[in-house]
Amino acid sequence: KQSVKLIAGNWKMHGLTASLAEAQALQDAIKAQSVTCRVALCPPATLLDRMRSTLVGGKVELGGQDCHDKPQGAFTGSVSAEMLTDAGATLVILGHSERRAGFGETDADVAAKVEAAIAAGLEPIVCVGETLEQREAGDAVAVVSAQVAGSLPDSLSERDFAVAYEPVWAIGTGLTPTLEQIAEVHAAIRSAIIARLGQGTAKTPILYGGSVKPDNAADILATAEVGGALVGGASLKADDFLKIIRAA
Ligand code: G3H
Repeated sequence: KQSVKLIAGNWKMHGLTASLAEAQALQDAIKAQSVTCRVALCPPATLLDRMRSTLVGGKVELGGQDCHDKPQGAFTGSVSAEMLTDAGATLVILGHSERRAGFGETDADVAAKVEAAIAAGLEPIVCVGETLEQREAGDAVAVVSAQVAGSLPDSLSERDFAVAYEPVWAIGTGLTPTLEQIAEVHAAIRSAIIARLGQGTAKTPILYGGSVKPDNAADILATAEVGGALVGGASLKADDFLKIIRAA
């Protein structure tokens, strides 16, 4: 349903209150430069509410980095989708490879979290991506297509959401796939989304993530079926993130 590019920053477990100054600098620069793409920041959940207060009236959307699949309950240490909404988020990253690999999240777990996010009114950014081993075995497209099929519940068909292609070997490494490899996987993801949810998802944004930097952003964002970027390290500094936003 959307065609404007989405540039989302994933701060991961970086950023303390002092980092709000970077968010403020980003927002001031965006306001001054008539940026047309969507810009989102996904800070640690503890910063969401204060970031909302800091960025009041601005263009920067806020997102969580994960949520529980239940609305509330005895789940020590977890945060629900509704809590993210309450704290100011309108989006949430789900199924990031650091959650899949480090916390054992399966496609079914991710799909349940997507359901919870939708119920709370959040726009999910659902992450998929192959490991280096899987790519070298020639399985990248098959792995990613299966993750799409398994991670997107039926309830998404009438909702705004995004898929992010993040090759695990490109995250935080400075390595990126070639533009041809990105185009190939994004085309496969588009087919898998449509096969799963129908033609209404023909314009659902497919973001690329994994070592997106100011110097490679323009080429990546100009590649077929790349509807935006999910940026880790380069989203922590307003200057770098702004250069990527300008490339969109
Ligand atoms: O969610 C963001 C990604 O994992 C990319 O991280 O830009 O630091 O490689 P990176």
